[in-house]
Amino acid sequence: MLFNDRIMDRENVVDIEDRGYQFGDGIYEVIGVYDGKPLMLDEHMERLERSAKEIKLNMGLIDDLKTKLEELVSANNLEEGIIYMQVSRGAAARWHEFPKADTPTVTVAYTRAENRTNNVEDQGATAVLTEDIRWLRCDIKTLNLLPNVMAKQEAVEHGAIEAILHRGEIVTEASASNVFIVKDGTLYTHPADNYILNGITRRKIIQLCEALNLKVNEQTYTVDELLDADEVFISATKLDVVPILKVDDHTIGNGEPGEITKQIVQEFRSLY
Ligand code: PDD
Repeated sequence: MLFNDRIMDRENVVDIEDRGYQFGDGIYEVIGVYDGKPLMLDEHMERLERSAKEIKLNMGLIDDLKTKLEELVSANNLEEGIIYMQVSRGAAARWHEFPKADTPTVTVAYTRAENRTNNVEDQGATAVLTEDIRWLRCDIKTLNLLPNVMAKQEAVEHGAIEAILHRGEIVTEASASNVFIVKDGTLYTHPADNYILNGITRRKIIQLCEALNLKVNEQTYTVDELLDADEVFISATKLDVVPILKVDDHTIGNGEPGEITKQIVQEFRSLY
């Protein structure tokens, strides 16, 4: 694992007064690794930097971190899987306000091998709907994931891959992925504002659609529009693009992965 600037054996290194541990006071990234190479690492590092800025967390040089993560992937001989990394505001006596400015942040990262065992991207999966009860800064990739955890658990208990979240009538995203719908050949996805995390996969899909001459509207849509869509898919790191064939009891389209979704699955695969 990476602990600050050292690659070392994984052991119990977290201080019980680490603010990430006690308050969820920190930020994180999950980066996909394919063929021994992190995919879209620069984009993940840029988002991390933005998250840090938004929570006023002062972290070291990103360039150095990027190199360290690459070193970690090769030290662990990781061919396919993910890098998990987080930066917390450090370890200090437990008071809610920020610790003294000289308290060093704590950066940790490790890798996990993950080979595809099922072809969920080709076969599709189901999802459930649940109210989005998160705070109003979902654009920051913070360690505070309890509402996401609760939502995902609800999905799993219903044999579904994801919980699609809605604030009232408006669909925002899913517990750990973004959501796209397709209607009459046009794609719709929630705009990248404070209600969603602007996924690196989401952004790449929007770029790929431009090249494929597919129109993407970054605008909100309702739960009814989701259920009435021709196609629905979710996107996230390592999950890539997964067709959603059923939401609660509603079958989407004809209940098969749609043509546009299949095209995007193929295009995304060609990136690695
Ligand atoms: N989650 N929205 C939420 C709430 C997420 O947690 C994620 C990713 C995404 C997709 O972002 P990206 O395409 O950059 O992975 C959208 C990661 C994978 C996780 O928490 O495990």
